[in-house]
Amino acid sequence: EQVCFGIDVGGTAVKVGLFNTEGELLNKWDFATKRTGEGKDILRDAADFIKEKITELNLKKEAIAGVGVGVPGPVMDNGEVQELPNLGLGHFNIEEEMRSLTGLKVKAGNDANVAALGEYWMGGGKGYRNVVLLTLGTGVGGGIILNGSVLAGSKGAAGEVGHILVNEKEENTCGCGKKGCLEQYASATGIVRLAKRYLNDSSKASSLRNIPEISAKSVFDCAKNGDELSMEVVEKACYYLGIAMAHIAQVVDPEAFVIGGGVSKAGEILTETVKKYYNANVMDALKNKEFRLATLGNDAGIYGAAKLILA
Ligand code: BGC
Ligand code: NA
Ligand code: ZN
Repeated sequence: EQVCFGIDVGGTAVKVGLFNTEGELLNKWDFATKRTGEGKDILRDAADFIKEKITELNLKKEAIAGVGVGVPGPVMDNGEVQELPNLGLGHFNIEEEMRSLTGLKVKAGNDANVAALGEYWMGGGKGYRNVVLLTLGTGVGGGIILNGSVLAGSKGAAGEVGHILVNEKEENTCGCGKKGCLEQYASATGIVRLAKRYLNDSSKASSLRNIPEISAKSVFDCAKNGDELSMEVVEKACYYLGIAMAHIAQVVDPEAFVIGGGVSKAGEILTETVKKYYNANVMDALKNKEFRLATLGNDAGIYGAAKLILA
């Protein structure tokens, strides 16, 4: 009986799962993403972590089918990445790098594509042949499943929905170098930035003013408690999401959208508000799609990464 590792490299944490060949999650761990110093430290940390677990669990090399890795940027078929903007990593080959660090079989993919694969395999995308997953975390990612398989594109950059232009008036620059990307408003960091902007630009009373370190979660929590300014922030973020999803639907016409990533913990307030703006901005034939929350939650990425090996 073999096992495999699924790794999800995120902007704040690296998640690691150990799976059997049936896709059962046997164990999972996470550690903080080291965002300082030489970018490749992140891969070295992940490799060291796995090697530690292999020793700890007394796993034989022959018993390990491989390591699947999801990273936040386009990944080409051969494992090459041009850049991972939110991690400050440049051009390299993840698969070669990880293979030489661990001595194991390695397969890599874009984090959101991989999470979509995970949800399609074991979660909220089950039963749909055409589904689009949006991950709202440090960045905004997209994974498109068409006719039952991931659409990667020629450079692995299909589904880069976080960088869809939604506001040509934005003055700040996105991690990708452009201005006005969806990610600047609908990622966890984008929502916080939006909230701070609203707090600055108005003198309105808000319970957010009493929170020393505003997070996306605090914005949604305050909105749920009726805090007006927080509600405006949520509406704005969902407005941009709804518009972007209308564009996506008009290109790929999925049966359903699944929303994942840390921000999706906000729950129904998120799906319901996004749905409102989606329906208001999409052509009639595409209205009233299914909107679901990722049922694997933050584990979608490790499941999908494992699936890269088990496929
Ligand atoms: C990157 C995507 C990634 C997403 C979520 C974006 O900034 O361009 O490749 O999927 O963040 O991590
Ligand atoms: Na993607
Ligand atoms: Zn961008």
